[in-house]
Amino acid sequence: MTDTLNIREFADNDLDEVLEVFRAALGENPLLRRTPELFAWKHLTNPFGRSIILVAEEAGRIAGVRAFMRWELDTRDGIRLRCVRAVDTATHPGFLRRGIFKRLTMEALDVAAGDGVDLVFNTPNPKSGAGYMKMGWSEVGPIGIMVRPRPGILWGSGDADALPDPDDFVRRNMPAAPVQIPDRHPIGLRTPRTPEYLAWRFVNHPTARYSMVESGGTVAYLRPNHRGPRRELVVSDVLGPAPRAAIRASAAACKADYLAAWFSSGSPERSAATRARIIPVPKVSALTLVCRPLRELPVDPAELPSWDFALGDLELL
Ligand SMILES: CC(C)(COP(=O)(O)OP(=O)(O)OC[C@H]1O[C@@H](n2cnc3c(N)ncnc32)[C@H](O)[C@@H]1OP(=O)(O)O)[C@@H](O)C(=O)NCCC(=O)NCCS
Repeated sequence: MTDTLNIREFADNDLDEVLEVFRAALGENPLLRRTPELFAWKHLTNPFGRSIILVAEEAGRIAGVRAFMRWELDTRDGIRLRCVRAVDTATHPGFLRRGIFKRLTMEALDVAAGDGVDLVFNTPNPKSGAGYMKMGWSEVGPIGIMVRPRPGILWGSGDADALPDPDDFVRRNMPAAPVQIPDRHPIGLRTPRTPEYLAWRFVNHPTARYSMVESGGTVAYLRPNHRGPRRELVVSDVLGPAPRAAIRASAAACKADYLAAWFSSGSPERSAATRARIIPVPKVSALTLVCRPLRELPVDPAELPSWDFALGDLELL
């Protein structure tokens, strides 16, 4: 069925057509616009490098897209792994179930392996999850959500269609700014939080407007968000020696209906969050983490305790 398909690397002048395929396959809403700026942020200006992007073409028309975003993870023993994140895959609705996603993904895996990539990881949606399992991915586990409710949580006070304005979510809002705070030692696979990474991730994001609170030489990056009728303030990341102080300051600054976060078990940020009464919600998971090593690794990435992350590492909002 896919014999007439040509798989090739993405070229810059494919961008408009690629964005059309994403819009047709995934839709768009006021909070998630598939703009050239968002594509460039993820795939072209990412400090870990330009993404591996393949397109499937039939009769001169782009039928499918597959991007592997570059990433790095440090192990607790100080080994840096070269990774890719299998984000942004879409097959145009007119070409579904013809093996395009599978073929693009397998070819992108070959490119990654040839390029010395150690590990692929991602948080697929229900549509693509089954396909990854058939291609040799393993489930690492569900990623839960920790919440500290405020009085408005029951009925909600937000407008789901409006872009969240940080001033409505954070007292004395301070927009995220670059910082030069050295990260702590990893307790598992952890994104190296270099100043370049932090600036790209939290300051230069083209759509999300991050706020920052600082206490005890420690910063928390906060993302205002509408979830249905509720206003949530996501503690995306905490960086510095005093996570308790920064998380307490985040809770004090929060004007949203609830504060949300996730930090790996055993991390100082998790224990700081728990002490600030940001509590795991039983039986609720926000994302499912899956992975596929491309060679023998010094840790087993298919085990959740092998990881050390905050929500800001997994979300790309
Ligand atoms: C997910 C998506 C990319 C699959 O594209 P596709 O080209 O139709 O997939 P393929 O034909 O290559 O299917 C690959 C495997 O996944 C499975 N699969 C694909 N779509 C599936 C679905 N909706 N439900 C269950 N299994 C599915 C197929 O069974 C196939 O396995 P098989 O080869 O053993 O039959 C496509 O549905 C899509 O673009 N969805 C919207 C965008 C999206 O959700 N992207 C993922 C998050 S960024």
